Amino acid sequence: MQIRPLTPVVGAELEAIDLASQCERGFDKAVVEQLRQAFLDHHVLFIRDQSLSPAQLTQFSALFGPIGRYPFAEPIPGHPEVIAIIKEASQQTVFGGIWHTDSAYMQQPSMASVLYAVQVPDCGGDTLFANMHAAYETLDDELQQQLQQRFALHSSAKNRQRLRDDHLRAGAMSATDDDVFEAVHPVVRRHPQTGKPSLYLSPAHTCLFEGEQMAESEPLLTKLFAHALQDDFKCRFRWTPGTVAIWDNRCLLHYPVNDYHGHRREMWRVTIDGEQPLAMF
Ligand code: SIN
Repeated sequence: MQIRPLTPVVGAELEAIDLASQCERGFDKAVVEQLRQAFLDHHVLFIRDQSLSPAQLTQFSALFGPIGRYPFAEPIPGHPEVIAIIKEASQQTVFGGIWHTDSAYMQQPSMASVLYAVQVPDCGGDTLFANMHAAYETLDDELQQQLQQRFALHSSAKNRQRLRDDHLRAGAMSATDDDVFEAVHPVVRRHPQTGKPSLYLSPAHTCLFEGEQMAESEPLLTKLFAHALQDDFKCRFRWTPGTVAIWDNRCLLHYPVNDYHGHRREMWRVTIDGEQPLAMF
């Protein structure tokens, strides 16, 4: 297996690995170790030219942690752990179209997400990823210290109408107005495997700092979002059919670009369960 970084800070393409044959004969121990280490080193991995059934996609995902369920979307028939994220050619809005980390509004947000490109447009429909370790490390010392003591509220209802419209138009949402999930998490999150700090905030879900009103929190949140989303911390991936990606929700934000109107895109996603985010202290 070869590992080709996309940028110095985030993302790598893996080459010379056939996941379907590994699934069939059982994953080699050395391959699994290499995959897990590459995941920790690069935070998001891309493997092109794969041909996987939903069951094989789940088998691959399970190498990284326990398989979970995503509460807002219907699974594909016969595979409760796999959801289809579809934007039809006739649709305008896209699933998850605001910078976010998956399910931050849950007490135990998902650790990682696996995405498999079933059908993608010839151009457009890229996904961007941003490294929140880098975002934290480049804050000044005083702000780092201050943020380490703080907690923030994440809500599935922030940007609710927009997200609701996106999901409903994408045919993937079954939630009603009663389905609001909220959780308070440390602003600076310690990665449970590497011990490294990251900024755990996103424009999609983070509403306020604990102990403040939304209006009080807004200036600092706006400043931190702008800092976190600068180009230096990002990579951009152009999908081709059969690409599998896995990303680490504990230290990345991601954003699917909605620039392919008139073309169909279908992805399958598996969620890997995570733990309650840890503070640095
Ligand atoms: C997601 O936010 O999980 C979907 C990403 C994508 O469709 O590229």
